[in-house]
Amino acid sequence: MDSGALDWASCNDPIDVLLGEHRTILQVLDEVERESRRLEANAALRESFWQDLLRFTDVFDAGLHHQKEEQLLFPALEGAGLSATQGPTAVLRDEHLRSKFWRDRIEMALRQRDRSRLLAAAGSYIDLMRAHVIKENQILFPLSRRLLAGAELERLHREFRLLSADQRISYWLRHPYEHAAGA
Ligand SMILES: [Fe+2]
Repeated sequence: MDSGALDWASCNDPIDVLLGEHRTILQVLDEVERESRRLEANAALRESFWQDLLRFTDVFDAGLHHQKEEQLLFPALEGAGLSATQGPTAVLRDEHLRSKFWRDRIEMALRQRDRSRLLAAAGSYIDLMRAHVIKENQILFPLSRRLLAGAELERLHREFRLLSADQRISYWLRHPYEHAAGA
């Protein structure tokens, strides 16, 4: 399975890095859809699955992925002429906030063990994120390749590497024993 994990040795293109992360996000959304179908069919509520999803949204999605887009790609595109308040990057930033809204709704429903609210929040999260990924893949990334010169893409790739190193260090500081255990 393509994990979408950062394979820096074989990837020199920042847009390919983001596309790989999107593949991982789509695979997780497929898992969430499968788990939702189980829940609809009255299977037991698997707390650990939903806790893993919340952790994924925090560490991978909001952390690893959105930071590359919001701190590096979007500003580069705005530097190349896109409006920061109207247009694609503004819409996509807003969708990142909306994904956090549904992530929090999933957490709240889980805490209350409210199956119908959990299913509703998970469905909204899946729909939003799939549409968001399609929009970035089909509109933002081709636009990025058109607007950003080769040197700018190379700079972004170097910045992605640095950001990922910072994120790994920050993660290990927060979870020292997981890393020590080889997790
Ligand atoms: Fe994205």
